[in-house]
Amino acid sequence: MRITDTSDLWWKSAVIYCLDVATFLDYDDDGVGDFAGLAHRIDYLQELGVTCLWLMPFYPSPGGDDGYDVSEYYGIRRELGDLGDFVEMIRMAEDRGIRVIVDLVVNHTSDQHPWFTAARSDPESPYRDFYVWRDRTPRTKEQNEFPDVEDGIWSYDEKAEQYYQHRFYSFQPDLNVTNPAVRDAVAKIMGFWLQLGVSGFRVDAVPFLIDHSGAEDAPGALDDPLDFLKSLRAFLGRRSGDAMMLGEANIPHDEQVAYFGGSDGDGLTMQFDFVANQQMYLALARQDPTPLVEALKARPDIAIESQWANFVRNHDELTLDKLSESERDEVFDAFAPEPEMRFHGRGITRRLPPMLGGDPRRVRMAYSLMFSLPGTPVLYYGEEIGMGENPDLDDRTGVRTPMQWTNEAGGGFSHAPRRKLVRPVTEGAYGPEHVNATDQRHDDDSMLNFMKRIIERYRASAEMGWGQCEVYDHDAPTVLAHTLTGEEGRMLALHNFAPEPATVTLALEGMEHGSTLVDLLVNDRTMSYDGDGTITIPLDGYDYRWLRVLPAETKRLG
Ligand code: NOJ
Repeated sequence: MRITDTSDLWWKSAVIYCLDVATFLDYDDDGVGDFAGLAHRIDYLQELGVTCLWLMPFYPSPGGDDGYDVSEYYGIRRELGDLGDFVEMIRMAEDRGIRVIVDLVVNHTSDQHPWFTAARSDPESPYRDFYVWRDRTPRTKEQNEFPDVEDGIWSYDEKAEQYYQHRFYSFQPDLNVTNPAVRDAVAKIMGFWLQLGVSGFRVDAVPFLIDHSGAEDAPGALDDPLDFLKSLRAFLGRRSGDAMMLGEANIPHDEQVAYFGGSDGDGLTMQFDFVANQQMYLALARQDPTPLVEALKARPDIAIESQWANFVRNHDELTLDKLSESERDEVFDAFAPEPEMRFHGRGITRRLPPMLGGDPRRVRMAYSLMFSLPGTPVLYYGEEIGMGENPDLDDRTGVRTPMQWTNEAGGGFSHAPRRKLVRPVTEGAYGPEHVNATDQRHDDDSMLNFMKRIIERYRASAEMGWGQCEVYDHDAPTVLAHTLTGEEGRMLALHNFAPEPATVTLALEGMEHGSTLVDLLVNDRTMSYDGDGTITIPLDGYDYRWLRVLPAETKRLG
């Protein structure tokens, strides 16, 4: 047995599924999803092949930023259940081989959090220094993350008679992580949820969380802000040998390396690859894989424990801020032609299927592509059935509608009267009548069954999460051809970004005479390699192939 088994670093071949308990399944029919509903759907998630759930914030919160404004870190929002329901759900998930990670939102609290209430009311309170205060607004060019709602990152608090910092909404005061007591409080929160059985955290807003700017000389400040991440990772390791931290850091690749902890890999365990995500959309818009290829080639090397997280969509806007203005316009023109489909000029508020005109071949090609990129795939609930957004809802809310389980008007999410639903269910072409999990479970050609298949194949191909990626040159410009080579296996992935058919001729290095290329997604499409140095593979428009390369003498299954 090797020293490092693939299942030790489980996150490197996980299938992560993000959901908001409030919009998943409402078990007590009060209009809001709950932990009992989620527990009821664990079998569905297991059947899909999910191995790790990421739960969006479920903590008590006034709800101004959909739970990302936490007013209590050790509890559960009443409508969702209680800690007992949480533990029951964790236990059931564990029984089905599913781990759970939870959102750790500690860049800021809600302004209703008792820490902030104490801080603003009393300058002598030990909590005063939990936040970032100034007598005058510093001259700063820093933009608020929500520039159409907030003027800047400083707001005056009448009670405190000082300005406080907030990178997000003004009801989300930033915590002061130069204060060691705040850093301890963050570790304590992590310790609590680890003790209840979670396998790690999705860490919100990491670049803001660790930013010390303006307070570098504060008495408790760390010499290197990244040491905060490292200390949290070390704490995680002490409390739970195999828990991980998945960081949200929309920053350039070279900066991400330091967040991972460089070659030591002792920082964030995983990070979303926002750069590759945005270049993927540019590539889809251009029907030319080149931008994505460049992003993959420019991905820096990371330590063996570290891992990239790939995604198609998440619960926020589809951020395009790392593209140039003209590139962003190309993506807007292709996928968000109307101004109301855009978010603050920097992103898109739609889900993928409507962006791609509902073309099932193209949608499947995009998911096949995402799963085939080196890294770990992260799905957002509803993607597995091809849900669309509700264009009548503002901003990011349109992609946060209730999960569609059945073809009933309420999508089987809840039997509460419509007016009581946490959010309206999507209607029209992407409504439950046309898009729902139940119908798709019984349809072999459905998106859901396609997703199950690629997940099953992904899980059985460790080279996808672990292997070295190589992009191949060839003469079909609309096709991405890449291989993933692990210790034990090799996979050739082909993706045609254009609607026209294409034929790819490749010279695959190291292919032995007598090898076969087994199509993992479609039966009876196995090819044998006759040893002349090249292989030629015809592809339909928007076609995708995962071909397992099997040498003649192999123990691997074809
Ligand atoms: C990132 C989250 O994904 C987003 O939904 C939230 O608004 C901000 N962080 C602030 O917590």
